[in-house]
Amino acid sequence: MQALIILATFLVALTSAREWWENGNFYQIYPRSFMDSNGDGIGDLRGITTKLRYLKKIGMDGAWISPIFQSPMEDFGYDCSDYYAIQPEFGTIDDFQALLDKANELGIKIILDFVPNHTSNKHNWFKMSEQRIDPYTDFYIWENGTYDEASGKHLPPNNWICSFRYSAWEWSDKRQQFYLHQFGVFQPDLNYRNPAVHQAMADVVRFWLNKGVGGFRIDAVPFMYEVSRDPTTGKIPDEPVAEGNACPDPDDWCHLKHIHTQDRNETFELVYDWRDIVDKFSKDKGDYQRILMTEAYTSLDNIIRYYGNGVRNGSHVPFNFEMFSNSNNKSTAQDFSNFIDSWLERMPKDVYANWVLGNHDNNRISARYGTAKIDMLNILVQTLPGHAVTYYGDEIGMKNVYVSYEETVDPQGINAGPDRYRQLSRDPERSPMQWDWTHQSGFSTANKTWLPVYENYKNENVFSQLLAKKSHLKVFMTLTEIRKNASFQKGSFEKSVADNVLVYKREQDEAYVVILNFNDEPKTVNIKEIFPAISNQVKVVTSSVQSEQREGNVINSDAVFVEGNVGIVVVGV
Ligand code: NOJ
Repeated sequence: MQALIILATFLVALTSAREWWENGNFYQIYPRSFMDSNGDGIGDLRGITTKLRYLKKIGMDGAWISPIFQSPMEDFGYDCSDYYAIQPEFGTIDDFQALLDKANELGIKIILDFVPNHTSNKHNWFKMSEQRIDPYTDFYIWENGTYDEASGKHLPPNNWICSFRYSAWEWSDKRQQFYLHQFGVFQPDLNYRNPAVHQAMADVVRFWLNKGVGGFRIDAVPFMYEVSRDPTTGKIPDEPVAEGNACPDPDDWCHLKHIHTQDRNETFELVYDWRDIVDKFSKDKGDYQRILMTEAYTSLDNIIRYYGNGVRNGSHVPFNFEMFSNSNNKSTAQDFSNFIDSWLERMPKDVYANWVLGNHDNNRISARYGTAKIDMLNILVQTLPGHAVTYYGDEIGMKNVYVSYEETVDPQGINAGPDRYRQLSRDPERSPMQWDWTHQSGFSTANKTWLPVYENYKNENVFSQLLAKKSHLKVFMTLTEIRKNASFQKGSFEKSVADNVLVYKREQDEAYVVILNFNDEPKTVNIKEIFPAISNQVKVVTSSVQSEQREGNVINSDAVFVEGNVGIVVVGV
Protein backbone atom coordinates (compact mmCIF):
# COMPACT_ATOMS: atom_id res chain seq x y z
CA MET A 1 0.00 0.00 0.00
CA GLN A 2 2.71 2.37 1.08
CA ALA A 3 4.71 1.53 -2.04
CA LEU A 4 1.65 2.35 -4.13
CA ILE A 5 1.30 5.75 -2.49
CA ILE A 6 4.97 6.49 -3.09
CA LEU A 7 4.63 5.43 -6.71
CA ALA A 8 1.52 7.56 -7.18
CA THR A 9 3.26 10.57 -5.64
CA PHE A 10 6.25 9.97 -7.88
CA LEU A 11 4.07 9.74 -10.97
CA VAL A 12 2.24 12.96 -10.08
CA ALA A 13 5.59 14.65 -9.57
CA LEU A 14 6.80 13.27 -12.88
CA THR A 15 3.79 14.36 -14.88
CA SER A 16 3.67 17.80 -13.31
CA ALA A 17 7.44 18.29 -13.58
CA ARG A 18 8.37 21.33 -15.57
CA GLU A 19 9.92 20.63 -18.98
CA TRP A 20 13.20 22.54 -19.29
CA TRP A 21 11.80 25.14 -21.68
CA GLU A 22 8.43 25.80 -20.05
CA ASN A 23 8.40 29.34 -18.63
CA GLY A 24 12.06 29.07 -19.56
CA ASN A 25 14.72 31.62 -18.82
CA PHE A 26 16.73 32.21 -22.00
CA TYR A 27 19.90 34.12 -22.62
CA GLN A 28 21.19 35.40 -25.96
CA ILE A 29 24.91 35.09 -26.61
CA TYR A 30 26.49 37.10 -29.39
CA PRO A 31 29.49 34.80 -29.85
CA ARG A 32 31.97 37.38 -31.16
CA SER A 33 31.41 39.40 -28.02
CA PHE A 34 31.00 36.94 -25.18
CA MET A 35 34.41 35.50 -24.32
CA ASP A 36 37.64 35.23 -26.30
CA SER A 37 39.74 32.19 -25.36
CA ASN A 38 42.61 32.60 -27.85
CA GLY A 39 43.46 36.29 -27.67
CA ASP A 40 42.45 37.26 -31.22
CA GLY A 41 40.01 39.89 -29.96
CA ILE A 42 36.98 37.89 -31.10
CA GLY A 43 34.81 35.74 -28.85
CA ASP A 44 34.72 32.00 -29.52
CA LEU A 45 33.19 28.67 -28.52
CA ARG A 46 35.83 27.72 -25.97
CA GLY A 47 35.27 31.11 -24.42
CA ILE A 48 31.54 30.44 -24.15
CA THR A 49 32.23 27.03 -22.59
CA THR A 50 34.29 28.63 -19.84
CA LYS A 51 31.35 30.90 -19.02
CA LEU A 52 28.57 28.32 -18.93
CA ARG A 53 28.81 28.14 -15.16
CA TYR A 54 28.01 31.82 -15.08
CA LEU A 55 24.84 31.16 -17.08
CA LYS A 56 23.91 28.49 -14.60
CA LYS A 57 24.64 30.77 -11.69
CA ILE A 58 22.39 33.49 -13.04
CA GLY A 59 19.55 31.01 -13.50
CA MET A 60 19.40 30.32 -17.23
CA ASP A 61 17.68 27.26 -18.72
CA GLY A 62 18.91 27.79 -22.25
CA ALA A 63 21.11 30.02 -24.36
CA TRP A 64 20.57 30.93 -27.99
CA ILE A 65 23.77 31.73 -29.78
CA SER A 66 23.91 34.02 -32.82
CA PRO A 67 25.30 32.18 -35.89
CA ILE A 68 28.45 30.10 -35.54
CA PHE A 69 28.45 28.41 -38.94
CA GLN A 70 31.09 29.03 -41.58
CA SER A 71 30.72 32.49 -43.02
CA PRO A 72 32.67 35.29 -44.74
CA MET A 73 31.33 37.36 -41.82
CA GLU A 74 30.06 40.23 -43.91
CA ASP A 75 26.99 40.20 -41.66
CA PHE A 76 28.80 38.37 -38.86
CA GLY A 77 27.43 34.91 -39.51
CA TYR A 78 24.04 35.91 -40.89
CA ASP A 79 25.67 35.15 -44.24
CA CYS A 80 26.39 31.46 -44.01
CA SER A 81 28.64 29.72 -46.52
CA ASP A 82 28.34 26.21 -45.06
CA TYR A 83 25.61 25.11 -42.66
CA TYR A 84 27.59 22.03 -41.67
CA ALA A 85 30.86 23.68 -40.63
CA ILE A 86 31.86 25.89 -37.72
CA GLN A 87 33.37 29.27 -38.58
CA PRO A 88 37.11 28.83 -37.78
CA GLU A 89 37.39 32.00 -35.68
CA PHE A 90 34.80 30.44 -33.34
CA GLY A 91 36.61 27.09 -33.18
CA THR A 92 36.02 23.58 -34.41
CA ILE A 93 33.24 21.04 -34.34
CA ASP A 94 35.05 19.43 -31.39
CA ASP A 95 34.92 22.73 -29.55
CA PHE A 96 31.22 22.86 -30.23
CA GLN A 97 30.79 19.30 -28.95
CA ALA A 98 32.72 20.20 -25.81
CA LEU A 99 30.45 23.20 -25.33
CA LEU A 100 27.37 20.99 -25.68
CA ASP A 101 28.77 18.42 -23.27
CA LYS A 102 29.48 21.03 -20.63
CA ALA A 103 26.08 22.64 -21.14
CA ASN A 104 24.39 19.25 -20.76
CA GLU A 105 26.33 18.56 -17.60
CA LEU A 106 25.09 21.86 -16.19
CA GLY A 107 21.53 21.40 -17.43
CA ILE A 108 21.58 24.25 -19.93
CA LYS A 109 20.25 23.75 -23.43
CA ILE A 110 22.04 25.28 -26.40
CA ILE A 111 19.89 26.77 -29.13
CA LEU A 112 21.48 27.50 -32.48
CA ASP A 113 20.70 30.40 -34.74
CA PHE A 114 19.38 29.00 -38.00
CA VAL A 115 19.47 31.42 -40.94
CA PRO A 116 17.30 29.84 -43.62
CA ASN A 117 16.13 32.83 -45.67
CA HIS A 118 19.45 33.44 -47.37
CA THR A 119 22.98 32.12 -47.63
CA SER A 120 26.21 33.94 -48.32
CA ASN A 121 27.01 34.48 -52.00
CA LYS A 122 30.18 32.50 -51.18
CA HIS A 123 28.12 29.40 -50.43
CA ASN A 124 28.79 26.61 -52.93
CA TRP A 125 25.06 26.35 -53.60
CA PHE A 126 25.09 29.94 -54.84
CA LYS A 127 28.26 29.51 -56.86
CA MET A 128 26.72 26.51 -58.61
CA SER A 129 23.40 28.25 -59.03
CA GLU A 130 25.17 31.14 -60.75
CA GLN A 131 26.62 28.62 -63.18
CA ARG A 132 23.27 26.87 -63.61
CA ILE A 133 24.64 23.60 -62.26
CA ASP A 134 21.87 21.27 -61.15
CA PRO A 135 20.35 20.64 -58.68
CA TYR A 136 21.30 24.20 -57.64
CA THR A 137 20.09 26.10 -60.72
CA ASP A 138 16.85 27.10 -59.00
CA PHE A 139 18.10 27.23 -55.41
CA TYR A 140 17.88 31.03 -55.48
CA ILE A 141 15.46 33.55 -56.97
CA TRP A 142 16.66 34.57 -60.40
CA GLU A 143 15.00 37.06 -62.75
CA ASN A 144 15.91 38.63 -66.08
CA GLY A 145 14.92 42.20 -65.38
CA THR A 146 15.05 44.41 -68.47
CA TYR A 147 17.83 45.74 -70.62
CA ASP A 148 17.89 49.48 -71.20
CA GLU A 149 19.36 50.06 -74.66
CA ALA A 150 19.88 53.77 -74.06
CA SER A 151 22.02 53.41 -70.97
CA GLY A 152 23.27 49.92 -71.75
CA LYS A 153 22.26 48.90 -68.24
CA HIS A 154 20.38 45.96 -66.87
CA LEU A 155 17.39 47.18 -64.85
CA PRO A 156 15.97 45.16 -61.93
CA PRO A 157 12.63 43.39 -62.37
CA ASN A 158 10.81 45.66 -59.92
CA ASN A 159 11.14 48.27 -57.16
CA TRP A 160 11.83 46.01 -54.19
CA ILE A 161 14.32 47.35 -51.66
CA CYS A 162 16.54 45.34 -49.35
CA SER A 163 16.67 45.80 -45.57
CA PHE A 164 20.15 47.27 -45.74
CA ARG A 165 19.07 49.96 -48.30
CA TYR A 166 19.03 50.05 -52.11
CA SER A 167 17.60 47.59 -54.62
CA ALA A 168 16.87 44.05 -53.48
CA TRP A 169 18.09 42.80 -56.89
CA GLU A 170 21.70 42.34 -57.90
CA TRP A 171 22.95 41.58 -61.37
CA SER A 172 25.09 38.51 -61.87
CA ASP A 173 27.39 38.79 -64.87
CA LYS A 174 28.03 35.07 -64.70
CA ARG A 175 24.43 34.03 -64.96
CA GLN A 176 23.21 37.11 -66.86
CA GLN A 177 20.29 37.46 -64.46
CA PHE A 178 19.37 39.32 -61.28
CA TYR A 179 19.16 37.51 -57.95
CA LEU A 180 16.99 38.59 -55.05
CA HIS A 181 18.56 39.57 -51.72
CA GLN A 182 16.28 40.93 -49.02
CA PHE A 183 19.30 41.77 -46.88
CA GLY A 184 22.85 42.55 -48.07
CA VAL A 185 24.01 42.11 -51.66
CA PHE A 186 26.11 39.25 -50.30
CA GLN A 187 23.03 37.47 -48.89
CA PRO A 188 21.07 35.90 -51.80
CA ASP A 189 17.57 34.68 -50.87
CA LEU A 190 16.91 30.96 -51.13
CA ASN A 191 14.01 29.83 -53.27
CA TYR A 192 11.56 27.97 -51.04
CA ARG A 193 9.29 27.27 -53.98
CA ASN A 194 11.89 24.69 -54.94
CA PRO A 195 11.26 21.47 -52.94
CA ALA A 196 14.97 20.68 -53.06
CA VAL A 197 15.68 23.80 -50.94
CA HIS A 198 13.06 22.68 -48.45
CA GLN A 199 14.75 19.32 -48.25
CA ALA A 200 18.26 20.75 -47.98
CA MET A 201 17.29 22.97 -45.05
CA ALA A 202 15.36 20.20 -43.29
CA ASP A 203 18.56 18.15 -43.51
CA VAL A 204 20.48 20.97 -41.82
CA VAL A 205 17.94 21.05 -38.99
CA ARG A 206 18.20 17.29 -38.46
CA PHE A 207 22.01 17.33 -38.60
CA TRP A 208 22.29 19.76 -35.65
CA LEU A 209 19.48 18.06 -33.74
CA ASN A 210 21.52 14.88 -34.00
CA LYS A 211 24.50 16.72 -32.56
CA GLY A 212 22.43 17.44 -29.46
CA VAL A 213 21.17 21.02 -29.67
CA GLY A 214 18.07 22.04 -27.72
CA GLY A 215 16.49 23.83 -30.68
CA PHE A 216 16.79 26.75 -33.05
CA ARG A 217 16.24 30.44 -33.17
CA ILE A 218 15.05 31.00 -36.73
CA ASP A 219 16.26 34.16 -38.40
CA ALA A 220 14.29 36.61 -40.53
CA VAL A 221 11.25 34.35 -40.76
CA PRO A 222 8.80 36.75 -42.49
CA PHE A 223 11.07 37.02 -45.53
CA MET A 224 11.02 33.36 -46.50
CA TYR A 225 8.57 33.61 -49.42
CA GLU A 226 7.76 36.33 -51.92
CA VAL A 227 4.79 36.70 -54.22
CA SER A 228 5.01 34.68 -57.45
CA ARG A 229 5.04 36.23 -60.90
CA ASP A 230 1.63 37.59 -61.95
CA PRO A 231 0.39 35.15 -64.63
CA THR A 232 -1.40 37.86 -66.63
CA THR A 233 1.31 40.51 -66.71
CA GLY A 234 4.19 38.06 -66.46
CA LYS A 235 5.77 40.45 -63.91
CA ILE A 236 6.62 40.35 -60.25
CA PRO A 237 4.60 43.25 -58.86
CA ASP A 238 6.13 46.39 -57.36
CA GLU A 239 5.51 47.18 -53.72
CA PRO A 240 3.53 50.36 -52.94
CA VAL A 241 5.11 53.33 -51.19
CA ALA A 242 4.32 53.35 -47.45
CA GLU A 243 1.72 55.86 -46.30
CA GLY A 244 2.86 58.98 -44.50
CA ASN A 245 6.22 60.58 -44.87
CA ALA A 246 8.10 58.72 -42.15
CA CYS A 247 10.54 57.25 -44.63
CA PRO A 248 11.02 59.67 -47.54
CA ASP A 249 14.33 58.31 -48.86
CA PRO A 250 13.39 55.92 -51.72
CA ASP A 251 16.51 53.84 -51.06
CA ASP A 252 15.38 52.99 -47.53
CA TRP A 253 13.63 49.70 -46.92
CA CYS A 254 10.93 51.41 -44.87
CA HIS A 255 10.00 53.56 -47.89
CA LEU A 256 7.88 50.68 -49.22
CA LYS A 257 5.00 48.71 -47.78
CA HIS A 258 6.15 45.11 -47.94
CA ILE A 259 2.97 43.46 -49.06
CA HIS A 260 4.66 41.07 -51.50
CA THR A 261 7.83 40.12 -49.66
CA GLN A 262 6.75 39.43 -46.08
CA ASP A 263 4.45 37.18 -44.06
CA ARG A 264 3.11 35.16 -46.97
CA ASN A 265 0.87 32.26 -46.00
CA GLU A 266 3.47 29.75 -47.16
CA THR A 267 5.92 31.16 -44.62
CA PHE A 268 3.75 30.13 -41.69
CA GLU A 269 3.39 26.64 -43.10
CA LEU A 270 7.16 26.40 -43.44
CA VAL A 271 7.60 27.20 -39.75
CA TYR A 272 4.99 24.56 -38.92
CA ASP A 273 6.98 22.08 -41.08
CA TRP A 274 10.13 22.79 -39.06
CA ARG A 275 8.12 22.33 -35.88
CA ASP A 276 7.06 18.90 -37.15
CA ILE A 277 10.73 18.01 -37.62
CA VAL A 278 11.78 18.99 -34.09
CA ASP A 279 8.68 17.37 -32.58
CA LYS A 280 9.29 14.12 -34.43
CA PHE A 281 12.93 14.16 -33.40
CA SER A 282 12.05 14.78 -29.74
CA LYS A 283 9.38 12.11 -29.83
CA ASP A 284 11.68 9.55 -31.41
CA LYS A 285 14.35 10.28 -28.81
CA GLY A 286 11.79 10.30 -26.02
CA ASP A 287 13.91 12.48 -23.76
CA TYR A 288 13.10 16.18 -23.96
CA GLN A 289 11.43 18.73 -26.18
CA ARG A 290 13.55 20.60 -28.71
CA ILE A 291 12.17 24.05 -29.34
CA LEU A 292 11.86 26.76 -31.98
CA MET A 293 12.18 30.47 -31.38
CA THR A 294 11.26 32.78 -34.25
CA GLU A 295 12.45 36.23 -35.18
CA ALA A 296 9.67 38.16 -36.88
CA TYR A 297 9.30 41.92 -36.81
CA THR A 298 5.73 42.04 -38.01
CA SER A 299 2.19 42.76 -36.84
CA LEU A 300 1.06 41.23 -33.57
CA ASP A 301 -1.45 39.09 -35.43
CA ASN A 302 1.30 37.67 -37.60
CA ILE A 303 3.65 37.07 -34.68
CA ILE A 304 0.86 35.17 -32.93
CA ARG A 305 0.26 33.10 -36.09
CA TYR A 306 3.81 31.77 -35.76
CA TYR A 307 2.66 29.93 -32.59
CA GLY A 308 0.42 27.77 -34.77
CA ASN A 309 -2.92 27.85 -36.57
CA GLY A 310 -5.03 25.71 -34.30
CA VAL A 311 -4.34 22.61 -36.40
CA ARG A 312 -0.57 22.75 -36.72
CA ASN A 313 1.93 23.95 -34.13
CA GLY A 314 4.67 26.42 -34.92
CA SER A 315 7.18 28.33 -32.87
CA HIS A 316 7.43 27.72 -29.12
CA VAL A 317 8.79 31.22 -28.66
CA PRO A 318 7.70 33.68 -31.35
CA PHE A 319 9.70 36.58 -29.99
CA ASN A 320 7.42 39.22 -28.55
CA PHE A 321 8.53 42.23 -30.54
CA GLU A 322 5.22 43.99 -29.95
CA MET A 323 6.34 45.43 -26.62
CA PHE A 324 9.97 45.66 -27.73
CA SER A 325 9.41 47.59 -30.95
CA ASN A 326 6.68 49.90 -29.75
CA SER A 327 8.02 51.05 -26.40
CA ASN A 328 10.68 53.62 -25.55
CA ASN A 329 11.81 55.88 -22.71
CA LYS A 330 8.51 57.80 -22.92
CA SER A 331 6.29 54.73 -22.61
CA THR A 332 4.00 54.83 -19.64
CA ALA A 333 2.80 52.22 -17.17
CA GLN A 334 -0.45 52.16 -19.15
CA ASP A 335 1.45 51.49 -22.39
CA PHE A 336 3.27 48.54 -20.85
CA SER A 337 0.02 47.29 -19.37
CA ASN A 338 -1.57 47.45 -22.83
CA PHE A 339 1.33 45.53 -24.40
CA ILE A 340 0.95 42.84 -21.77
CA ASP A 341 -2.81 42.59 -22.31
CA SER A 342 -2.61 42.50 -26.05
CA TRP A 343 -0.16 39.59 -26.00
CA LEU A 344 -1.91 37.60 -23.27
CA GLU A 345 -5.33 38.12 -24.84
CA ARG A 346 -4.26 37.14 -28.32
CA MET A 347 -1.96 34.22 -27.73
CA PRO A 348 -3.53 30.80 -28.25
CA LYS A 349 -4.31 28.39 -25.42
CA ASP A 350 -1.62 26.01 -24.18
CA VAL A 351 1.36 28.14 -25.17
CA TYR A 352 3.62 30.40 -23.15
CA ALA A 353 3.92 34.15 -23.46
CA ASN A 354 7.43 35.55 -23.85
CA TRP A 355 9.03 38.84 -22.95
CA VAL A 356 12.13 40.26 -24.56
CA LEU A 357 13.54 43.78 -24.55
CA GLY A 358 17.04 43.37 -25.97
CA ASN A 359 18.95 41.75 -28.81
CA HIS A 360 21.90 42.26 -31.17
CA ASP A 361 19.85 44.30 -33.66
CA ASN A 362 18.62 47.01 -31.34
CA ASN A 363 20.10 49.57 -28.99
CA ARG A 364 20.60 48.26 -25.51
CA ILE A 365 17.87 48.57 -22.89
CA SER A 366 19.88 51.26 -21.11
CA ALA A 367 20.06 53.30 -24.32
CA ARG A 368 16.43 52.88 -25.29
CA TYR A 369 14.75 53.35 -21.92
CA GLY A 370 17.41 55.14 -19.89
CA THR A 371 19.95 53.65 -17.49
CA ALA A 372 17.71 54.31 -14.49
CA LYS A 373 15.11 51.84 -15.77
CA ILE A 374 17.44 48.85 -16.22
CA ASP A 375 16.40 46.98 -13.10
CA MET A 376 12.77 47.91 -13.45
CA LEU A 377 12.64 46.41 -16.93
CA ASN A 378 14.60 43.32 -15.92
CA ILE A 379 12.05 42.89 -13.13
CA LEU A 380 9.24 43.17 -15.70
CA VAL A 381 10.73 40.58 -18.07
CA GLN A 382 11.50 38.11 -15.28
CA THR A 383 8.21 38.31 -13.39
CA LEU A 384 5.54 38.30 -16.11
CA PRO A 385 3.96 34.92 -16.91
CA GLY A 386 5.87 33.02 -19.60
CA HIS A 387 9.41 32.91 -20.96
CA ALA A 388 12.01 35.57 -20.24
CA VAL A 389 14.73 36.36 -22.78
CA THR A 390 17.82 38.36 -21.82
CA TYR A 391 20.45 39.75 -24.19
CA TYR A 392 23.97 39.19 -22.84
CA GLY A 393 25.09 42.06 -20.64
CA ASP A 394 21.63 43.48 -19.98
CA GLU A 395 21.72 41.72 -16.62
CA ILE A 396 24.59 44.04 -15.64
CA GLY A 397 23.10 47.08 -17.38
CA MET A 398 25.65 47.28 -20.20
CA LYS A 399 25.50 50.39 -22.34
CA ASN A 400 25.78 51.12 -26.06
CA VAL A 401 29.42 51.65 -26.94
CA TYR A 402 30.50 54.53 -29.19
CA VAL A 403 31.99 53.42 -32.53
CA SER A 404 33.14 56.00 -35.10
CA TYR A 405 31.99 55.70 -38.73
CA GLU A 406 35.53 54.77 -39.77
CA GLU A 407 35.52 51.90 -37.29
CA THR A 408 31.98 50.77 -38.05
CA VAL A 409 31.82 47.14 -39.15
CA ASP A 410 28.08 46.47 -39.26
CA PRO A 411 26.93 46.45 -42.92
CA GLN A 412 23.70 48.20 -42.00
CA GLY A 413 25.73 50.97 -40.33
CA ILE A 414 28.16 51.24 -43.23
CA ASN A 415 25.36 51.46 -45.83
CA ALA A 416 23.67 54.20 -43.82
CA GLY A 417 26.61 56.53 -44.46
CA PRO A 418 28.44 58.84 -42.02
CA ASP A 419 25.43 61.08 -41.35
CA ARG A 420 22.98 58.38 -40.41
CA TYR A 421 25.10 55.47 -39.24
CA ARG A 422 24.59 56.30 -35.55
CA GLN A 423 20.88 55.77 -36.04
CA LEU A 424 21.25 52.46 -37.86
CA SER A 425 24.51 50.78 -36.90
CA ARG A 426 24.17 47.74 -34.66
CA ASP A 427 27.78 47.81 -33.48
CA PRO A 428 27.02 49.80 -30.29
CA GLU A 429 24.92 47.00 -28.74
CA ARG A 430 27.49 44.33 -29.62
CA SER A 431 30.45 45.44 -27.53
CA PRO A 432 32.42 42.79 -25.57
CA MET A 433 30.92 41.40 -22.38
CA GLN A 434 32.26 43.15 -19.29
CA TRP A 435 33.49 40.34 -17.09
CA ASP A 436 35.86 42.11 -14.71
CA TRP A 437 38.09 45.17 -14.26
CA THR A 438 41.23 43.71 -15.86
CA HIS A 439 42.57 44.27 -19.42
CA GLN A 440 39.70 44.45 -21.95
CA SER A 441 37.28 43.72 -19.09
CA GLY A 442 38.55 40.13 -18.94
CA PHE A 443 36.99 39.45 -22.35
CA SER A 444 40.25 39.09 -24.26
CA THR A 445 44.00 39.33 -23.90
CA ALA A 446 44.24 41.10 -27.28
CA ASN A 447 45.32 44.71 -27.52
CA LYS A 448 42.45 45.46 -29.82
CA THR A 449 39.09 43.74 -29.70
CA TRP A 450 36.79 43.54 -32.75
CA LEU A 451 34.58 46.22 -31.19
CA PRO A 452 35.76 48.39 -28.33
CA VAL A 453 35.02 47.48 -24.73
CA TYR A 454 32.80 50.10 -23.10
CA GLU A 455 34.91 52.53 -21.09
CA ASN A 456 32.98 52.08 -17.80
CA TYR A 457 34.07 48.44 -17.54
CA LYS A 458 36.36 49.03 -14.55
CA ASN A 459 33.35 49.83 -12.39
CA GLU A 460 30.58 48.01 -14.18
CA ASN A 461 31.36 44.36 -14.72
CA VAL A 462 30.17 40.94 -13.64
CA PHE A 463 32.82 40.50 -10.98
CA SER A 464 32.36 43.88 -9.30
CA GLN A 465 28.61 43.46 -9.39
CA LEU A 466 28.89 40.05 -7.76
CA LEU A 467 30.99 41.58 -4.99
CA ALA A 468 28.77 44.61 -4.50
CA LYS A 469 26.11 44.53 -1.83
CA LYS A 470 23.56 45.75 -4.31
CA SER A 471 23.95 45.72 -8.10
CA HIS A 472 22.03 45.12 -11.31
CA LEU A 473 23.37 41.58 -11.34
CA LYS A 474 22.31 40.91 -7.75
CA VAL A 475 18.81 42.15 -8.53
CA PHE A 476 18.76 39.97 -11.63
CA MET A 477 19.91 36.88 -9.74
CA THR A 478 17.29 37.36 -7.04
CA LEU A 479 14.68 37.57 -9.79
CA THR A 480 15.79 34.40 -11.56
CA GLU A 481 15.79 32.62 -8.22
CA ILE A 482 12.28 33.64 -7.16
CA ARG A 483 11.07 32.90 -10.67
CA LYS A 484 11.48 29.20 -9.88
CA ASN A 485 8.78 29.61 -7.26
CA ALA A 486 5.30 28.23 -8.10
CA SER A 487 3.84 31.74 -7.91
CA PHE A 488 5.83 32.74 -10.98
CA GLN A 489 5.80 29.37 -12.72
CA LYS A 490 2.08 28.81 -12.64
CA GLY A 491 0.60 31.42 -10.34
CA SER A 492 -2.25 33.78 -11.12
CA PHE A 493 -1.61 37.18 -12.66
CA GLU A 494 -3.61 40.26 -11.65
CA LYS A 495 -2.67 43.73 -12.73
CA SER A 496 -3.58 47.33 -12.09
CA VAL A 497 -2.36 50.71 -13.37
CA ALA A 498 -2.77 54.07 -11.70
CA ASP A 499 -0.73 57.25 -11.60
CA ASN A 500 1.79 55.86 -14.12
CA VAL A 501 2.64 52.97 -11.80
CA LEU A 502 2.17 49.37 -12.94
CA VAL A 503 1.33 46.93 -10.16
CA TYR A 504 0.73 43.21 -10.49
CA LYS A 505 0.40 40.17 -8.31
CA ARG A 506 1.70 36.67 -9.01
CA GLU A 507 0.23 34.16 -6.61
CA GLN A 508 0.18 30.46 -6.00
CA ASP A 509 1.28 29.43 -2.52
CA GLU A 510 2.67 32.87 -1.82
CA ALA A 511 1.55 36.29 -3.05
CA TYR A 512 4.23 38.36 -4.75
CA VAL A 513 3.49 41.92 -5.78
CA VAL A 514 5.55 43.76 -8.38
CA ILE A 515 5.46 47.57 -8.41
CA LEU A 516 6.99 49.46 -11.34
CA ASN A 517 7.06 53.23 -11.08
CA PHE A 518 7.38 54.75 -14.56
CA ASN A 519 7.46 58.30 -13.17
CA ASP A 520 10.67 60.20 -12.54
CA GLU A 521 9.36 61.17 -9.13
CA PRO A 522 8.59 58.86 -6.21
CA LYS A 523 5.13 57.46 -5.48
CA THR A 524 3.60 55.86 -2.44
CA VAL A 525 1.48 52.92 -3.50
CA ASN A 526 -1.30 51.31 -1.49
CA ILE A 527 -1.13 47.70 -2.62
CA LYS A 528 -3.50 46.66 0.14
CA GLU A 529 -6.20 48.69 -1.57
CA ILE A 530 -5.42 47.11 -4.96
CA PHE A 531 -5.18 43.55 -3.65
CA PRO A 532 -7.22 43.49 -0.40
CA ALA A 533 -6.24 39.90 0.40
CA ILE A 534 -2.56 40.82 0.67
CA SER A 535 -1.12 40.79 4.20
CA ASN A 536 -0.88 44.09 6.11
CA GLN A 537 2.85 43.83 6.00
CA VAL A 538 5.02 42.68 3.12
CA LYS A 539 8.69 41.84 2.77
CA VAL A 540 10.91 43.45 0.14
CA VAL A 541 12.31 40.70 -2.11
CA THR A 542 14.30 42.96 -4.40
CA SER A 543 14.32 46.52 -5.71
CA SER A 544 16.21 48.61 -8.28
CA VAL A 545 19.76 49.52 -7.26
CA GLN A 546 18.90 53.17 -6.69
CA SER A 547 16.08 52.32 -4.30
CA GLU A 548 16.32 52.74 -0.55
CA GLN A 549 14.07 49.73 -0.05
CA ARG A 550 16.38 47.01 1.20
CA GLU A 551 15.94 43.31 0.60
CA GLY A 552 14.33 41.72 3.67
CA ASN A 553 12.77 44.96 4.99
CA VAL A 554 9.24 44.46 6.22
CA ILE A 555 6.97 47.36 5.30
CA ASN A 556 3.28 48.24 5.46
CA SER A 557 1.38 47.19 2.39
CA ASP A 558 -0.90 50.24 2.48
CA ALA A 559 2.02 52.63 1.85
CA VAL A 560 4.88 51.25 -0.22
CA PHE A 561 7.34 53.99 -1.10
CA VAL A 562 8.76 53.60 -4.61
CA GLU A 563 11.32 56.05 -6.01
CA GLY A 564 11.09 57.25 -9.62
CA ASN A 565 12.04 54.72 -12.34
CA VAL A 566 12.24 52.04 -9.66
CA GLY A 567 10.84 48.54 -9.57
CA ILE A 568 10.16 46.64 -6.35
CA VAL A 569 9.07 43.08 -5.69
CA VAL A 570 7.46 42.32 -2.33
CA VAL A 571 5.97 39.16 -0.86
CA GLY A 572 3.19 38.78 1.67
CA VAL A 573 4.29 37.80 5.19
C1 NOJ B 1 18.11 39.26 -38.58
C2 NOJ B 1 19.35 39.19 -37.76
O1 NOJ B 1 19.00 39.26 -36.41
C3 NOJ B 1 20.24 40.32 -38.21
O2 NOJ B 1 21.32 40.50 -37.36
C4 NOJ B 1 20.67 40.01 -39.61
O3 NOJ B 1 21.43 41.09 -40.12
C5 NOJ B 1 19.46 39.79 -40.52
N1 NOJ B 1 18.46 38.97 -39.93
C6 NOJ B 1 19.89 39.12 -41.77
O4 NOJ B 1 20.13 37.76 -41.52
